[in-house]
Amino acid sequence: EEVPLEMHKVRIVQKINLKPVERRLEAIEEAGFNTFLLKNDDIFMDMLTDSGVNAMSDKQQAAMLEADDSYAGSTTFTKLDNKVREIFKKEFFLPMHQGRACENIISQVFVQPGTIVPMNYHFTTTKAHIVINGGTVEEIFTDEALKITSEHPFKGNMDIDKLNALIEEHGREKISFVRVEAGTNLIGGQPFALENLEEVRQVCDKYDLMLVLDASLLADNLYFIKQREEKCKEMSIKEITGAISDLCDIVYFSARKLGCARGGGVCTNNKEAYLKMRELVPLYEGFLTYGGMSVREMEALTIGLEETMEENMINQGPQFIAYMTDELVKKGVPVVTPAGGLGCHLNAMEFLDHLPQTKYPAGALAAALYLVSGVRGMERGTLSEQREEDGSETLAHMELLRLAMPRRVYTLSQVKYAVDRIAWLYENRDLIGGLTYVEEPKVLRFFFGRLEAN
Ligand code: F0G
Repeated sequence: EEVPLEMHKVRIVQKINLKPVERRLEAIEEAGFNTFLLKNDDIFMDMLTDSGVNAMSDKQQAAMLEADDSYAGSTTFTKLDNKVREIFKKEFFLPMHQGRACENIISQVFVQPGTIVPMNYHFTTTKAHIVINGGTVEEIFTDEALKITSEHPFKGNMDIDKLNALIEEHGREKISFVRVEAGTNLIGGQPFALENLEEVRQVCDKYDLMLVLDASLLADNLYFIKQREEKCKEMSIKEITGAISDLCDIVYFSARKLGCARGGGVCTNNKEAYLKMRELVPLYEGFLTYGGMSVREMEALTIGLEETMEENMINQGPQFIAYMTDELVKKGVPVVTPAGGLGCHLNAMEFLDHLPQTKYPAGALAAALYLVSGVRGMERGTLSEQREEDGSETLAHMELLRLAMPRRVYTLSQVKYAVDRIAWLYENRDLIGGLTYVEEPKVLRFFFGRLEAN
């Protein structure tokens, strides 16, 4: 049996509560059956996200104490700036307060009304920013991407023929830029291959288009490239990072996932693009030497980026996720395979095949799992989509319950507990009914929307 091995020891702990089922029932009702609205105090294992909740290292904590606080020109920022330059090999870096802030500024600068942004797959905040600026998202995934069970090592790849065809059909003037997302979030944390990115680059060169990388989930993607891509086996993580970055004109990231618990930024070698984006940073983020981050966050991020270059650090998430996924497969529970990064993804469409998509099976599964276990996951399906102009539902390609694995936070016994409860719920899945919105915000409705069970 392959069991993940922790390459660290735990030196600070935080108590968590396993509340009785009666309280959990009250809590999920109070939350309008939306796991985003649960309070952490009522939660045993918080698998909502890996954003802002990964464990910090002793070195990160230590660095936070020597932060140099100053509005402009802090030494702390210079350290971060140098580290970004070293790792991503880009001359210009703009700090921002988190990933979607980068998406706001990139979209405001490069997305014009009527333009298209082709990408391997969308992310919720990315799409919202592109759409609000008048653009359209076109997803150019391969046929493998949406297969729930697969053995394909790189389900996050772009389909090169479809990308060429799309650009030919609309003309290059209609394309704002091409976007690739590392560790493709909404299809189960699935990686792209370096080789595929090279092919995307060739297309961008042919049509003179910018290639933008969302590196928020780069850590997992790096691990998978190192493990699964033959020609990268002998490369260091840092060399792979450099090779990826070299292919892209703009690299942006949410440091809530990559390297730290807060923050983000955009880097590029393209001076013209840099200058255009730079104008907006003081407007939305803050001065150019902090961009909304505290100096403590910037210190921790500098160390965190360095630590991300260690294979024994970035292997922890994927190995725990693979363990959880494999155990669930053994018990017959429908999950996305191969195991990706970010988390373990339950296939709610099959788990709850008695519910239509308009009853939000993934949302219903999230609420039910919380009730039977105190484990909080996140719906990633129709409930997270935005309605069409005419008010009809946009049915998601997949109905997933994402059980994110915050890195180096939960132990193997806790993961086993989650597996045991999920298996019980699967055996008793007929008990689970659907959900209907009773309060439905127009934008990003899944964050605050309230539902009722029926
Ligand atoms: N891009 C990707 C691929 C992401 O996963 C996220 C955030 C963002 C951009 C936005 O970054 O949150 O710092 O503003 N994903 C979180 C999640 C929210 O839970 O998957 P942010």
